[in-house]
Amino acid sequence: MKLGIAADHGGFTLKEEVKAWLVSTGHEVKDFGAHHYDQFDDYPDFVIPLAKAVSSGEVKYGIAICGSGVGASIGANKVTGVRAALIHDSFSAHQGVEDDDMNMICLGGRVIGVKIAEELISAFLNAKFIGAERHKRRLDKIKAIEEERL
Ligand code: RB5
Repeated sequence: MKLGIAADHGGFTLKEEVKAWLVSTGHEVKDFGAHHYDQFDDYPDFVIPLAKAVSSGEVKYGIAICGSGVGASIGANKVTGVRAALIHDSFSAHQGVEDDDMNMICLGGRVIGVKIAEELISAFLNAKFIGAERHKRRLDKIKAIEEERL
């Protein structure tokens, strides 16, 4: 399964750590930047290309990191077909996939360390969308909003 990852300066260090761990555990990871630390860079420049790659299917899941994870989450959810959330607890990391078909996880590089990030990402990647009628019904209501925007 191909994954994508992106971060601004607030998430750069955690991105590098998480990417190294993902590669060491056998994942294929496309890095959407930043490719070097720049304290003046802007998270949309990296998170939006990642979100577009999730939306197009170029990567199956996205991991977006900024300082808090808030800006990454706000930006990613503007892209049609992306279901992103800021996740800092393991229940939401898997339940967000099981019930809500979450396809991007957003993390705060100034909030959590690499070991917690690894646990959250493992829970996210190992979860499966349950796809019950009630889950699909709720997602259809969100898709209807996306269609209104087109
Ligand atoms: C950048 O300083 C910081 O504002 C950004 O990484 C993020 O936390 C935004 O949500």
